[in-house]
Amino acid sequence: MKFSDRVPSDLTPNRITTALADLRSRGVPIIDLTESNPTRVGLAYRGDLLDPLADRASLTYEPSPFGLECARAEVAADYRRRGVEVDRARVILTASTSEAYSLLFKLLCDPGDEVLVPRPSYPLFDHLTRLDAVRARPYLLGYDGAWTVDLDSVRTALTSRTRAIIVVSPNNPTGSFVSADEMAALSGLCAERGIALIGDEVFADYGLGDRPDRHPSMLAEPLALTFGLGGLSKSAGLPQIKLGWMAAGGPASLVDAALARLEVIADAYLSVSTPVQRASGALIASGAETRDRVRARVAGNYRELAALVGDHPACTLLPVAAGWSAVVQVPATRAEEALVLTLLEQDHVLVHPGYFYDFPREAFVVLSLLPEPRVFRDGVEKALERAVA
Ligand SMILES: Cc1ncc(COP(=O)(O)O)c(C=O)c1O
Repeated sequence: MKFSDRVPSDLTPNRITTALADLRSRGVPIIDLTESNPTRVGLAYRGDLLDPLADRASLTYEPSPFGLECARAEVAADYRRRGVEVDRARVILTASTSEAYSLLFKLLCDPGDEVLVPRPSYPLFDHLTRLDAVRARPYLLGYDGAWTVDLDSVRTALTSRTRAIIVVSPNNPTGSFVSADEMAALSGLCAERGIALIGDEVFADYGLGDRPDRHPSMLAEPLALTFGLGGLSKSAGLPQIKLGWMAAGGPASLVDAALARLEVIADAYLSVSTPVQRASGALIASGAETRDRVRARVAGNYRELAALVGDHPACTLLPVAAGWSAVVQVPATRAEEALVLTLLEQDHVLVHPGYFYDFPREAFVVLSLLPEPRVFRDGVEKALERAVA
C-alpha cells in the first residue's frame, strides 16, 4: 500500500514523547511546563459561558462558505476593538488557524510551491505545509538582545516558487513583535514580487508591555494581498470551541480575486458549525474576562521566572514582549535533548528543547507561562538546577 508523502513515512515518536508516555503509563506525576492549553491550567471560566451554543436559531442550517453574516460582523467588531477597520465582507470564518493556513495554501500554492516561514517559530508549519504539498522555506529572526527579522535572509529565501511570506506577530515562542518598519518592508517585498503576506496574529492581545514600534495589525496598511489570522483559541482562551478566522486586505482587485477563489474552497468544506457561529458574539465578548486572567497569569509567571533565572548567572531569560511562552538560554554543556530527557526522567519536569522550534543553535529551553504559579515555580526551580548541574 502506498500512502501519500504528505504524511511522514516514519511515525516513530521522538525520544522525549516516548519517555513521557512511559512515565505517564507508570502513573508518575509530571510538572508540565509545556502546557499551553488555557483550559487545563486552573483558570476560571464563567459557568454560563457555553449557554449561547444552545440558541434554538441554530436548529436551522444556512450553509455559507465564509460564515454567517452575523458572525462575520462580530469578528469585524473584534478587529475594531483592536483598532483595525475590517469590512465584514472580507472576513472568513474557519474552525481554527490551522484550517485558515490550509485554505490559504490551497488558494495560493500548487504542489511544490514554497512559503517562507520564520525561524524560530511555531513548529506546526512543517506539518501544515507538507499536508498541502507545499514547501516551507525558513527565513531568520535574529537575536541581539531583541528579536528582529533578518530581511536579507528573507530576500535570500525567495525563489520563483515562493507564493507567500508568513509572519507571526507576536511570534511563538520568542514572544517578539514584528516592528512597523519590518512589516512595511515585508509588505513592500510581497507587493513587488506579487506574492501574499500571511500574518498570524493569534497572540495579538497578549502584549506584556508597551512597544511603541509595535504594528497594530498586518491589516493596517497592507501594500500586498494580505491575510490576518486570528481566533478564539487564544483571544478568548477557548481552543476547544474551534472558531478561527482570517481577514483579507490589500489592493482591492487582488482581494476580490482571492475572495472569489477562497469561496470555492471554503464551500467544499463548510466546516464551522452553526451553533458556534450563532454564539460568536457572546464568545468573543467573553474573551475580555479570560484575557485579563491569562494576562495576569502570564505576567506573574514571567516575573517569577525572571527572578529565578536571576539566581543562576549561567542562564539567561530572553525578553518576552508578548505571548504565552518564554525562552531560557542554558549552558550548552550538553545537547538540549539530553538536558530535556534528564530533566524529565530524573525530575519529572517537562520543557521543550529549542530545536522543537528550530532555533539555529543550542542550548535553549522553551517554557509555557500558563501553568499554575506554584507548579510553575516548582518546575522552573528544578529545571534551572538541572540546567546548571
Ligand atoms: C503561532 C500560532 N498560530 C496558531 C496557533 C493555533 O491556533 P488554532 O488553535 O486556532 O489552530 C498556535 C497555537 O499555539 C500558535 O502558536
